[in-house]
Amino acid sequence: MRAASVASTAWAAMASGVWGIELMLNDGGASARNGAFVTSHGMMSYYSGNESGQTPGYLPNEGQLDGYYWWEGGGMFGTLIDYWYYTGDETYNDNTMQALQWQVGEDRNYEPTNASQSLGNDDIAFWAFGALRAAELAFPDPPKDSPQWIPLVQTVLLDYIARWDTSSCNGGIHWQVFRLSPGWNYKNAISNGCMFNMAARLGKYTGNQTYIDWANKVWDWSEGVGIIDKQGQVWDGVHTDDNCTTVTLQPWTYNFGAYLLGAAAMWNITGDPDGKWRSRINTLISGSDHLFPNKGPMMEIGCLNTNTCNNDEKSFRAFTLSWMADTAKIAPFTEPAITPLLQTTAKGAAQQCSGGSDGVTCGLNWNVSTWDGTTGVGQQLSAMSAFLTLLAPFKAGPILNFKNGGTSVEDPTATGGDGSSDSPLLPLKPITTADKAGAAIITLLLAGCVLGGSVWMVWGK
Ligand SMILES: *[C@@H]1O[C@H](CO)[C@@H](O)[C@H](O)[C@H]1NC(C)=O
Ligand SMILES: *[C@@H]1O[C@H](CO)[C@@H](O)[C@H](O)[C@H]1NC(C)=O
Ligand SMILES: *[C@@H]1O[C@H](CO)[C@@H](O)[C@H](O)[C@H]1NC(C)=O
Ligand SMILES: *[C@@H]1O[C@H](CO)[C@@H](O)[C@H](O)[C@H]1NC(C)=O
Ligand SMILES: *[C@@H]1O[C@H](CO)[C@@H](O)[C@H](O)[C@H]1NC(C)=O
Ligand SMILES: *[C@@H]1O[C@H](CO)[C@@H](O)[C@H](O)[C@H]1NC(C)=O
Repeated sequence: MRAASVASTAWAAMASGVWGIELMLNDGGASARNGAFVTSHGMMSYYSGNESGQTPGYLPNEGQLDGYYWWEGGGMFGTLIDYWYYTGDETYNDNTMQALQWQVGEDRNYEPTNASQSLGNDDIAFWAFGALRAAELAFPDPPKDSPQWIPLVQTVLLDYIARWDTSSCNGGIHWQVFRLSPGWNYKNAISNGCMFNMAARLGKYTGNQTYIDWANKVWDWSEGVGIIDKQGQVWDGVHTDDNCTTVTLQPWTYNFGAYLLGAAAMWNITGDPDGKWRSRINTLISGSDHLFPNKGPMMEIGCLNTNTCNNDEKSFRAFTLSWMADTAKIAPFTEPAITPLLQTTAKGAAQQCSGGSDGVTCGLNWNVSTWDGTTGVGQQLSAMSAFLTLLAPFKAGPILNFKNGGTSVEDPTATGGDGSSDSPLLPLKPITTADKAGAAIITLLLAGCVLGGSVWMVWGK
């Protein structure tokens, strides 16, 4: 079995006293596979959601300021589907299946009651992407009587469609699901970018024109309000208070990645008769230059230089890199531009995975060759994803769709879940006088969301 041989190679390398992860670009993927194995092991040492008494899908100190937020488990398990697909190692498949099913929630739309007190549309997306990834890569389907991958994604997307709000800014979805949540007045790039990405990929998988039409609409809106600017740079979001006339000029890698892969899917399915998607994709890629400072590895420039990356932000590159690798596959004209970026980035990640007592713990700063002293799920996940992107070229078979080998079936009768913004599954906690005294309550409520760094911009007005 593949898993066993990967494992023995890795442990042999570690036992022989090799410090750090050695990565070669010309060894048929062997060292990248080994790197992915070693980093996945470090990452999963944080996970105990499958143990008795624990909650499947939760990362340590779930929802607390010193811990991980709900969405990141979804992001991690989605990336573990990449891991299985690219390496053949099935070690984490049971955990992945269990978590992606456990968190579907009462309406099968990835809004479990536990998460509803501060729920962003972006948070939901990362769980739905896990289901979408499972369908695209033909990860095993759940038992027949359990929620199925593609219908789960349909339900989430239909909820987004129900939340499309033209009462301000001519459209867009809000960051927050519920009107009463702090942050409702922000329409951010990652929520809308995830909607775009999901609509385009679901359109590609199912061929359903409804989803393709929505992808067009979200792109046009995002460009219209300036979240995507003329240079192809993707910025963090816009406020409804001023009808979305001021763009928050904060860069996060995953905003770029979300729009990039959606655009690649649109290029792929439409045949791009007038060349507009090719041009948009090329502009996004050139606009991403600032995310690769001095043509070096991808850096989370929105927080790294100021040493302020929170747990959310430490993981963003994992998704961006996976989305870039997919882009190179489904829009192959991008491959010459994307491959060198992925290679340089993976090299950077490898040199940074040289810390901890095991000598292979990953830090954050991929621009330096000595471990930066930081540890966490985001660091392990991002490095693992960086190594996996190098395996994409070796993997026979493209990203699947229903016609060419996918097994998850579209549900033509799908309706949304509770797409309403008015009825939180739980009443929001009333804000008490004591809470009002400080900003603490706002911090607590907001901290549950994907978007860490821009919180103060939302509230700093
Ligand atoms: C939880 O998953 C890990 C693999 O990540 C496995 O080694 C362990 O046995 C599992 N625990 C239970 C209780 O199934
Ligand atoms: C919600 O929280 C309860 C209590 O911690 C836990 O038992 C349950 O598994 C959680 N549900 C989900 C979907 O995470
Ligand atoms: C808000 O902006 C949209 C265009 O983005 C415009 O159509 C609409 O008229 C504006 N509304 C107000 C109240 O200014
Ligand atoms: C579209 O994507 C599929 C993989 O899903 C790939 O096989 C195909 O070659 C792509 N189409 C084009 C025109 O590149
Ligand atoms: C990365 O390292 C190079 C060489 O040491 C340095 O010139 C550059 O400024 C660094 N970039 C970042 C983003 O830290
Ligand atoms: C396409 O998706 C829409 C929305 O989910 C659905 O109403 C419609 O039945 C689907 N079309 C087909 C042909 O399945």
